[in-house]
Amino acid sequence: MDEVTDLLAIELSHLNKVKPVLLGDTLTKLEVIHDLSLVIPKGEVLALIGPSGSGKSTLLRMINRMEEPTSGSILLYGSDIQHMNVRKLRRRVGMVSQTPALLPGTIEENISYGPKLRGEPCDAAHFLDLVGLEKSLLQRPASALSIGQQQRMSIARALANNPEVLLLDEPTSALDQTAARNIINLICHLSHRLALTVIMVTHVMEHAKAVATRIALLVHGSLIEEGEAVEFFSDPTTEAGRKFLRGELFESGD
Ligand SMILES: Nc1ncnc2c1ncn2[C@@H]1O[C@H](COP(=O)(O)OP(=O)(O)O)[C@@H](O)[C@H]1O
Ligand SMILES: [Mg+2]
Repeated sequence: MDEVTDLLAIELSHLNKVKPVLLGDTLTKLEVIHDLSLVIPKGEVLALIGPSGSGKSTLLRMINRMEEPTSGSILLYGSDIQHMNVRKLRRRVGMVSQTPALLPGTIEENISYGPKLRGEPCDAAHFLDLVGLEKSLLQRPASALSIGQQQRMSIARALANNPEVLLLDEPTSALDQTAARNIINLICHLSHRLALTVIMVTHVMEHAKAVATRIALLVHGSLIEEGEAVEFFSDPTTEAGRKFLRGELFESGD
C-alpha cells in the first residue's frame, strides 16, 4: 500500500449501474447510477443524500458487493473489490440497514456471529458496551430488545468484525425521533472513537449535519454536489443542494 491508497478508504470510478425494470408490460433498462466517481478519504463520515429513488441504496450495496456495478470500479484502500473474496470484503466493509436484522438466539450470539463463523473469539460484552447497552443483556433473546436497542445491537454486530468501513443505509428510518437522535449521537461518538470511515445514507438534514464531515448529493443516479459538510451546509453550490437545505428536495414525486 502506498501513501495515497493508505489515505483513501474508498475510490469509486466511473460507476454505472443499469437495472431491468418492468414498466407496464414492457421490460426496460433503467440507469440507476450514472458515471459516478467519488473518493472517500480514511476516517471521514460521508452523508449520502438525495431524493428517494436516486440510487443511494444501490450505490451502498455495490460497495460491499450485494450488487455488482454494470461498469466502473470500486477500490478499497487501492484494491479492486471485484477481485476480493466476498466474505472477506464484508468483514472489512460492514453494513447496517434500515430495519435491524435479527438472528435467532441471544444478543451475545447475534453480536459474535461474524467472528464465530471465522472461528475467532469475540468479546461481545465489549461491543455491547461500545454501543451503550447494558452488559447484563448479553444472554437475553435479541427479540426482547426495543427497536432502537436492536439497531444498536446491529451496529455492535457490524463492529464486532472490526470493519475498516461502515455502511449505514438510513439507520434511523424505522425509529421514533428520540431513538433516532440517540443512534445519530452514537454514530458520531463511534466514528470519533474508532476513527472509522463511514458512509451513511440519510434524508434527514439534521442527521447529515450532526454526523457528516463530507456530503455527496445524488439525484437520478448522478452525483450533483460533493464536498466538505461545513461548506455544503453554509453555502451549497447547486440548486439541488439549496433545495435539500430548504427541505424541498424530497417533496415532488417521492
Ligand atoms: N431490484 C430492483 N429492480 C429494479 N429496479 C430497482 C430495484 N431496486 C431499486 N430499483 C430502482 O432503482 C432506482 C434506485 O433505487 P434505490 O437505490 O433504492 O434508491 P434510493 O435508495 O435513493 O431510494 C429506483 O428507481 C428504484 O425504483
Ligand atoms: Mg434507499
